[in-house]
Amino acid sequence: MWPFRKKTVLPQCDDRLSHIAFIMDGNGRWAERRGLPREAGHRAGAENFRRVVRLCGDAGIRTVTVYAFSTENWKRPQKEVEELMRLLSRYLDEVLEKIGQEQVTLRFLGDPAPLDPALREKIRRAEQATADQDRVVNVALNYGGRDEIVHAVNALLSQGKRHVTEEDISRNLYTAAQRDPDLVVRTGGDIRTSNFLMWQSAYAEYYFTDVLWPDLDADVLAAAIREFYSRKRRYGGL
Ligand code: FPP
Repeated sequence: MWPFRKKTVLPQCDDRLSHIAFIMDGNGRWAERRGLPREAGHRAGAENFRRVVRLCGDAGIRTVTVYAFSTENWKRPQKEVEELMRLLSRYLDEVLEKIGQEQVTLRFLGDPAPLDPALREKIRRAEQATADQDRVVNVALNYGGRDEIVHAVNALLSQGKRHVTEEDISRNLYTAAQRDPDLVVRTGGDIRTSNFLMWQSAYAEYYFTDVLWPDLDADVLAAAIREFYSRKRRYGGL
């Protein structure tokens, strides 16, 4: 008999798990284990990002946020930074070519100022062309959680505010008006949050796995979803 692999049936998520965020760690190690340059790991990671977005859609998840490039990632070798920017630019080209076919709103979180002007322009066009869909994909690019909060506070100061509320800050984050993540998944084995969605993840559940990002598949996603539903969220109550 043909030895085909059984297809994983993803749990169907309800409103309790409508936003999942990923810290996509482990691309470099994935490549090194295969004797490949780190950039090959990022290429495999970018491919897997597309697959994971589709899988999340299949599981009924409405918002997916990924940590693609942090405010600290500029310290990496220029060749690696350039490859990451090239991968993002290629993804934007694909999105722009497929306008009207894929029902996903694309949003970028982070400070666009240091990005190449051509990339900034593609981001602007892609965000505009995909606005108002039911599902959202947020790509955190030149993103830092502390930087985001400082940015929000400065925006409020420039609006003349002298006293701010939690709602004021939430509304001025890059994620303004979006629901906070219910679940944050980090691949690659490290157990830290790395300045990702610091404000928004105050009550998120975390799921850490040793699986490297390019290997995150339906089985791992299903395990993370099941683990999420096995937890009791108390938000500080009993
Ligand atoms: C961390 O792994 C990963 C990154 C800094 C980049 C993540 C970016 C992508 C997966 C591509 C994004 C592209 C699109 C289209 C969204 P690492 O390199 O630090 O891994 P290591 O810990 O094994 O070295």
